[in-house]
Amino acid sequence: MARDGERDDPPAGISRRDFLRGGAAVGALGSAGLLAREMAEAAKGGPRMEAGVEIWGPGEVPVRLRVNNKSFDLRLEPRTTLLDALRDHLELTGAKRVCDRGTCGACTVLLDGDAVYACSLLAIDVQRQPIWTVEGLGHPESLHPLQAAFVENDAQQCGFCTPGFVIAAKALLDRNPNPTLAEVHHGLSGNFCRCGTYAGMRKAVLAAAPLMAGGLQEEEGAEAEDAGMADAAGGEPKKIPKKKKRRRRHHG
Ligand code: FES
Ligand code: FES
Repeated sequence: MARDGERDDPPAGISRRDFLRGGAAVGALGSAGLLAREMAEAAKGGPRMEAGVEIWGPGEVPVRLRVNNKSFDLRLEPRTTLLDALRDHLELTGAKRVCDRGTCGACTVLLDGDAVYACSLLAIDVQRQPIWTVEGLGHPESLHPLQAAFVENDAQQCGFCTPGFVIAAKALLDRNPNPTLAEVHHGLSGNFCRCGTYAGMRKAVLAAAPLMAGGLQEEEGAEAEDAGMADAAGGEPKKIPKKKKRRRRHHG
């Protein structure tokens, strides 16, 4: 028992949250057996079964993400959004958090070729699906044609929304390499720009369209890299079934 001003520290390998949760369970049920079992499972980071249902978390569990053609093995709470995983755990801050509720498009990334709102997906649900962020498209010395077109067509002011628009435009041009102005309008309509640079962005997308030869090709060897990392990590993380993709809103 801790004295005033001191904390009870959980045993090694168990998060403070799981420790407190276990203590609450004992208080409610008076069952030291349940506490011991839950704490042992939490320490392993694996699932537990309740009424025939597999339960993950609430503590950290192994999650493997494939971002910009690289695999990353992370330990995340199941509640972690894809946006938080990218920004806070992988330091990929191109996707921005603005509304954090699937409205503005600032967090747009490509998931399996579709533009999605990263703030509205759980990282654990998108394991092993190819994810591309704006960082994967190009870099300052070698801009992607879309990025170059945004620069040339003065398609940003503050630039905060720009990564989301570039990714939405990429998804559009991969799907429709020769869009009309109306189709560009519709393809970008899931994103907001507070600075109002829509006209420049539409011009940029039309200018980039003929310059884009196909989409991003995933390099061969990614699977081999996956396998290597699985060995290094000491086994395969839980394979999560593919979920139905979230559709983006289209405004206006
Ligand atoms: S931050 Fe995700 S849609 Fe606005
Ligand atoms: S350029 Fe500022 S929000 Fe779009």
